Amino acid sequence: MSEKCKKVYITTPIYYVNDVPHIGHAYTTIIADTLARYSRMIGMDVFFLTGTDEHGQKIELAAKARGKSPQEYADEISNRFKQLWGDFEISYDKFIRTTDPEHMKGVQKAFEVMVERGDIYKDVYRGHYCVSCETFFTDTQLVDEEFCPECGRSTTMVEEESYFFRLSKYQDKLLEWYENKPDCILPKAKRNEVINFVKSGLNDLSITRTSFDWGVKLPESMHDPKHVMYVWLDALMNYITALGYGTDEKLMDYWPAKIHLIGKDILRFHAIYWPAFLMSLGLELPHHVAAHGWWTRNGEKMSKSKGNVVDPREIADAYGLENFRYFMLREVPFGQDGDFSQRALIDRINSDLSNDLGNLLNRIIGMSGKYFDFNVQSENVGHYHKEELAEVEAILANVEPFLYEVQTNRYLEELWKTLRIANKAIDTAMPWVKMKENKEDEAMATIALVANILAKVSVLLHPVMPKTTQTIAHALGFEVNNESYIRLIKEKALLERFTIEKVPPLFPRIEAPLVETPGQKAVEEAKKEAETKADKKSEAKAKPTSDEKEPEEENLITIDQFFKVKLKVGSVVEAEEVPKSKKLLKLQVDLGEEKPRQIVAGIKEWYSPEELVGTQVCVVANLKPAKLMGMVSEGMLLAAKDDEGLCLIRPEKPRKPGSAIG
Ligand code: ME8
Ligand code: MG
Repeated sequence: MSEKCKKVYITTPIYYVNDVPHIGHAYTTIIADTLARYSRMIGMDVFFLTGTDEHGQKIELAAKARGKSPQEYADEISNRFKQLWGDFEISYDKFIRTTDPEHMKGVQKAFEVMVERGDIYKDVYRGHYCVSCETFFTDTQLVDEEFCPECGRSTTMVEEESYFFRLSKYQDKLLEWYENKPDCILPKAKRNEVINFVKSGLNDLSITRTSFDWGVKLPESMHDPKHVMYVWLDALMNYITALGYGTDEKLMDYWPAKIHLIGKDILRFHAIYWPAFLMSLGLELPHHVAAHGWWTRNGEKMSKSKGNVVDPREIADAYGLENFRYFMLREVPFGQDGDFSQRALIDRINSDLSNDLGNLLNRIIGMSGKYFDFNVQSENVGHYHKEELAEVEAILANVEPFLYEVQTNRYLEELWKTLRIANKAIDTAMPWVKMKENKEDEAMATIALVANILAKVSVLLHPVMPKTTQTIAHALGFEVNNESYIRLIKEKALLERFTIEKVPPLFPRIEAPLVETPGQKAVEEAKKEAETKADKKSEAKAKPTSDEKEPEEENLITIDQFFKVKLKVGSVVEAEEVPKSKKLLKLQVDLGEEKPRQIVAGIKEWYSPEELVGTQVCVVANLKPAKLMGMVSEGMLLAAKDDEGLCLIRPEKPRKPGSAIG
């Protein structure tokens, strides 16, 4: 590790409670857990934090849709995360919730400090807000003047009084930080992205809202009760409020964080906003912000709305928790996306764990039993296997940085190199031949070499596979802990005399996938939930209000909901280009009503006005009228788009204008 600090503070993101945990969340948490366990093993004083992010409009809406209060709903989902981490034996020291009173007090304190620093001022915010990403966008960032550039959902125009944080003031200081600490952002390739973003200019950040109230109130001293804090300000502060910032600061000496582990989706918040907030608070900056890639299914980011999530519990139950941990950390290079497949998982288990690691142990148990009644001694290893031993020690002495740079795949690859050396040593030395030639010392030396390599590997593999490695260590007559770490790894010592104990095979081979359709359960649950919700609503005959918007993750609808959409056949009677617009055409479409409807459609790239007049189209007829470039549009055309372009959906045979579709 680069800096020799005794205290090590490691964090995961605090997860939103609008979604049940999936393997993406498990991935971040397992990496963090591995770093925490490693740091503890080598003798550091570790504080490992995880938790849930519970405020904001997204959660408020999700709760409402389920007929629950935000707090009830947050309690429920927060618990699911807690239970999963419990079952996964995640070794966190604290589970923070942003609804914890100490957290909220700490955030208010931070707000006051920022005010004192002159970093907060009041103004009017005008911008486009994506509820799903809880992020503001400027006009130029929007896609097609409406959609969120990150998730593609519709944004809403927000214009309200707001407090601002002077982010712009910190632009140069941030650039200095990236410059002076080249590994502050990991993987290093991501650093340039951040630098370019900051160089392109930072706007001040709106940090309060008045349009909803599920959030931390401003401190009393502001005398402004209608504002609540922007969720990201609230959420990021968890990393210091968990240590007691603003309340009881006795854990603050864990600050600054050794590493904030996150997914690349939230890098900007952690690499720009967070250090700027810290500078304003006069606190030190974290050593590393490390952003990993996404787990995908068939190339698509996993998310509940796409119905493609894999339930980590389902996989761990079927394949073994520690095998699953190994797979996640070994399979993808840090920072890159990885496609989840059971095939890849099975291959890793069979080749790395069963063939390489498991077989080696079996061979040692077998030979030591057969030739030496399980009693092994390492006296002659240095004599007969000097080179192999030196090679192994050199590899193992250099693996730690891979771990702290979160290159877990490289770390594990290195450990496996030593296993290959061990296997090769057996194949070349052939202890069974040596025994026949009465060269017992040589046979013993080879067996002891291999047993020692296994011992050292189980120490360094321990943070990844805590129980399995303990079983291996016990078979070799020792226990993995700080003392054995120091002896076997730091001091490069060997186990001297030990008795091997038999263990049943640790990694049975797997022939075929063990889970029929991963994620199926989650999809069914979502469906069931959507149906009960629809039933409840129709029973209660609840008046739909404008904020009774479906939260984004509920993508299944009932037939009743579908028929709320009125689809009609229309005939295009007029069509013209919209001046200055690259995308829009203005159409008059006959829907069998008194007069044709005006529909403004983004189809100019694919259709000319001339070829449209006289043809039929399919129209969403009960859409709220919208204004596009100042023109009213009273409907929407159905169309299909792929990489070859867009085409309109039309009736196969002409129908009377206004005919219902459905
Ligand atoms: O962003 N692959 O919470 P969140 C890999 N509350 N990792 C994934 C993933 C995927 N497909 N999907 C999610 C938030 N993750 C905020 C954080 S921190 C102060 C506030 C992981 O519930 C990954 O770690 O949306 C990502 O950053 C995190 O879940 C986002 O979780
Ligand atoms: Mg998210």
